[in-house]
Amino acid sequence: MKLAPSILAADFGNFERDARRLEAAGADYLHIDIMDGHFVENISFGADVVKAIRPVTKCLLDCHLMVENPEKYVASFAQAGADSLSIHVEATRHIHGAIQKVNAAGLRSAVVINPGTDISSIKHVLEIVDMVLVMTVNPGFGGQKFIPECLGKVRELADIRQFRGLDFEIEVDGGVDNQTIIACRDAGADVFVAGSYVFDGNIEENIATLREALN
Ligand code: DX5
Ligand code: ZN
Repeated sequence: MKLAPSILAADFGNFERDARRLEAAGADYLHIDIMDGHFVENISFGADVVKAIRPVTKCLLDCHLMVENPEKYVASFAQAGADSLSIHVEATRHIHGAIQKVNAAGLRSAVVINPGTDISSIKHVLEIVDMVLVMTVNPGFGGQKFIPECLGKVRELADIRQFRGLDFEIEVDGGVDNQTIIACRDAGADVFVAGSYVFDGNIEENIATLREALN
């Protein structure tokens, strides 16, 4: 079970301090939300922020690309020091090719599905990804309410993984707190992104509470 705090909810003037705190508090992955203002309404930050965080943490840098034409940016995120790139199936006309490009760059790859997207759209890339990210809110903003209907897809993916003998991780993202994380784990998720829950109050205490909920 891995915790992946999202720095979208961090203090944008203190990414270094917050990244160090998250690692010390037991984060496994740092989830980095890249938004271009086209694929989603919001604009966050780009590869240069990944480059700035890279030297201050050993955590896996889990970059969630909410951008149009994500394949265009694989090289720049690889150069910036990203460990994993997550590509939305809705953002590219060539999901298989985009994942191949991430793999060829030597990075871990993930395919992402929005709440309105069925898993049939990703079944032909499950053999070549390291992770599937099931969005549990519509992407674009932190602090939204968890959509429980998305859990059915987590269960389906966990079944497919077992049936086909695959080993991709299943990550959930959006509205994860100390209650919803339990439902996600029970459905079969292994990696849990949390932004506002972690940063609302004391980071160390909140990460510990999430960890306890998983035990
Ligand atoms: C939403 C982002 C999430 C966001 C999660 O578009 O992909 O990673 O930071 O934030 P919370 O945990 O507040 O829902
Ligand atoms: Zn995200």
